[in-house]
Amino acid sequence: MKFEPKILGFLCNWCSYAGADLAGVSRIQYPPNLRVIRVMCSGRIDPVLVLDALASGLDGVIVMGCHPGDCHYMTGNYEAERKIKMLKKLITPLGFAERLHLEWVSASEGARFAEVVRDFTNHIKVLGPSPLREEKLDSKKMEDIQAAKKVVEDFRLRALVAKERKIIEEGNVYGEEKSQEEFDNIMDDALSAEYIRNRIYLLLEKEPTSTKHLSNYLGLDNKEILEHIVILRRRGLIAVDRVDDMTPIYTVLKR
Ligand code: FES
Repeated sequence: MKFEPKILGFLCNWCSYAGADLAGVSRIQYPPNLRVIRVMCSGRIDPVLVLDALASGLDGVIVMGCHPGDCHYMTGNYEAERKIKMLKKLITPLGFAERLHLEWVSASEGARFAEVVRDFTNHIKVLGPSPLREEKLDSKKMEDIQAAKKVVEDFRLRALVAKERKIIEEGNVYGEEKSQEEFDNIMDDALSAEYIRNRIYLLLEKEPTSTKHLSNYLGLDNKEILEHIVILRRRGLIAVDRVDDMTPIYTVLKR
């Protein structure tokens, strides 16, 4: 059967949604694969919603906002850009980055709106159906995306994304300015560490287990798993459930 992608679009009210409206009243044709959610500004889009959409089996997500400098709330589109950049970094190793796209479309760009939707739909057709579609659900990929969702729910990560511009332009709480490259490295480390911690947490939530089992399942070395276990214990998220043959078996503590 011919693959018809299911795509979700988050469109800002003042530019992109108006652009979509213009495409409609101008009778410009574009693929019917897009379902639209109107938001007041692209900066309002919570990364959790994007991951929810992917987790529900949608084949692609596109975010559209006003061109840089045109946001009706001044900096909302720059915030959207930072969030999408962070999300892409997070979901690249999981194989979903190509399914997420950010684009600027103004109220006067009806034809461009149609072109953007056409291009993204064709791009998703080439990628094929999401591995999280009900009929071909890949449970390991679902675990990946659930862990990614937990990462973006975490207040530490959200604070880091929100403060990116401030840290680069004015410095952190110690007054230390960071270059874009230094900030990106901090973000990469935080994303990768939090992702692994959440994978561990979710596995322990299913059943108590040992570091050896976690290390085999996640394909990481035992020492690295132990370092994350120490941090999760320090945060009060996990504890030793019991000791089997001198091996500690860890479990989650209720959040
Ligand atoms: Fe359109 Fe902010 S109002 S991106």
